[in-house]
Amino acid sequence: MELELIQKYIKEHLSEKRYNHSVGVMERSEELAKKYGADVEIAKKIGIAHDVAKEMTEEEKLKYVEKNNIEIDEIERKNTPLLHAKIGKDIAIKKFGFSENMGQAIAEHTTGNKNMDIYSKILFIADRTSKDRNFEDLEYLNSLADKGIDEAVLYILDKKIGLQIKKGALIHLNGIIARNYLLENR
Ligand SMILES: [Fe+2]
Ligand SMILES: [Fe+2]
Repeated sequence: MELELIQKYIKEHLSEKRYNHSVGVMERSEELAKKYGADVEIAKKIGIAHDVAKEMTEEEKLKYVEKNNIEIDEIERKNTPLLHAKIGKDIAIKKFGFSENMGQAIAEHTTGNKNMDIYSKILFIADRTSKDRNFEDLEYLNSLADKGIDEAVLYILDKKIGLQIKKGALIHLNGIIARNYLLENR
């Protein structure tokens, strides 16, 4: 599906706040794609679509995964906001015609994963640094991004995992796997 049509769908199906976030992530994805030499159109499509399932209720999400045979783990079942990533991938593939790899970037955007491709890393960073977010470390993060995309991803993983610890919340193993993988392949 064309970028404009995906954007229209997002605008029509999400709240104004979430739509504005999605546009912010799309714009940030564009900048990052240019910076790292990735395909701008693909990065923008992933950015605008990434939270397509974010506003489903818990019940709707659990119904969706069951109906569409999406495998989920214990932590996702207990922490259902995480599910918007896997469901978002499924919707993006079925409704927007995303490739498996483009969908995978959406599936990984909340936790990270081992072996993330360039689009997955771009989305991961863009989601944290879009202009609708007041990320206090933005300048520092941008300096890391200049050193290399993995440094920026690692920094965000540390922040996210640290936040879960502070909140006393469950940590999804993929975040730890992603962090170990990046550290080992530094
Ligand atoms: Fe999200
Ligand atoms: Fe997001």
